[in-house]
Amino acid sequence: MKVAVTAEIDANEPRVAATPETVKKLIGLGADVAVEPGAGIKSGILDSDYVAAGASVTQDAVAGADIVLKVRRPLASELSRLKKGAIVVAIMDPYGHEDALRALADAGVTAFAMELLPRITRAQVMDVLSSQANLSGYRAVIDAAAEYGRALPMMMTAAGTVPATKVFVMGAGVAGLQAIATARRLGAVVTATDVRPAAKEQVESLGAKFVAVVDDEFKAAETAGGYAKEMSKDYQAKQAALVAEHIKKQDIVITTALIPGRPAPRLISREMVVSMRPGSVIVDLAVERGGNVEGVKADAVTDIGGVKIIGYANVPGRLAASASSLYAKNLFAFLESLIDKKTKTLAVNWDDDIVKATALTRDGAIVHPNFKAKTAA
Ligand code: NAI
Repeated sequence: MKVAVTAEIDANEPRVAATPETVKKLIGLGADVAVEPGAGIKSGILDSDYVAAGASVTQDAVAGADIVLKVRRPLASELSRLKKGAIVVAIMDPYGHEDALRALADAGVTAFAMELLPRITRAQVMDVLSSQANLSGYRAVIDAAAEYGRALPMMMTAAGTVPATKVFVMGAGVAGLQAIATARRLGAVVTATDVRPAAKEQVESLGAKFVAVVDDEFKAAETAGGYAKEMSKDYQAKQAALVAEHIKKQDIVITTALIPGRPAPRLISREMVVSMRPGSVIVDLAVERGGNVEGVKADAVTDIGGVKIIGYANVPGRLAASASSLYAKNLFAFLESLIDKKTKTLAVNWDDDIVKATALTRDGAIVHPNFKAKTAA
């Protein structure tokens, strides 16, 4: 069983899919591990660290590999080097990229999309969305604090009192909850909103105040999978009115709202942005899915009427060493579930819920129910 770890081709991707720790564990499962040169360098891992863990470091690591571990979906140049039937595990970003799915199928690889894991207890250890979003939520507060011209905690000094910063977090999922916790640790006064009722208690347990339009639609806004639904126009209008009033009084706003497979909901209009005091900061963690904030630009800090809007893409990559360490453990846990420990060989159970939810392509075809119909049409 040959496992390959690639160096990411995208220059904006500093993460890596295996660490020396997970390499050792993979070898323990009977794998030969080959790593492309420089794969871990942007996450602080040297080639020699992988060698010390028992891997080989070679330019043609993927040649003949049975399993390829990646952060991002492989590009055409990488696919052509993979053997037919190879398993590729990555964050595949499948929605809206049907051509790329076709290319994966045509290359004959078995592609698994880690972000499609079901949110079930058994999959928690493999949950890349959670491990990476948690870091994003933390980093969003750090990035906001770095751009903000005032201190976050209340400070009473001989020269006078610095008031505590008011932070408003929109979307209280994994990223939002960590943003709340981080902002609280830094001494800010925190409020938060979400459309899922379950979020209220979680927000309050972190010492923040919950602010939301609570109506019948709100009470039914959580899907069986635990995600948010797209809200009606009527709800959106009520939410916008509430947010418009609240946001004027905030110093830092962090938006994290996402709906799986849909563009990010627009929560903050330009008018709301300019209603904030100059010097205020907004961080839009949804920028890669279209953004929650009007006027946000990817990988830029945009100034609108003195309000800074931060739109960094790949925020987990801004904490590459931590992000890689957790991502690699997620991937190892996933892989471990595909391997027969006794025979030390690949033994994929195609009836397993986790396998069914994440398998995108197999034997030259797109097999995932969410994408089969679209690509056939
Ligand atoms: P996400 O990244 O899909 O969305 C972020 C947040 O934005 C969510 O809380 C969502 O409700 C909220 N949102 C969507 N539209 C909104 C709107 N119009 N206004 C305000 N907020 C809006 O969500 P994430 O972080 O992936 O979490 C989704 C759920 O999954 C949560 O309930 C979380 O606790 C749960 N979860 C369960 C796990 C498990 O293994 N059981 C693991 C991780 C998360």
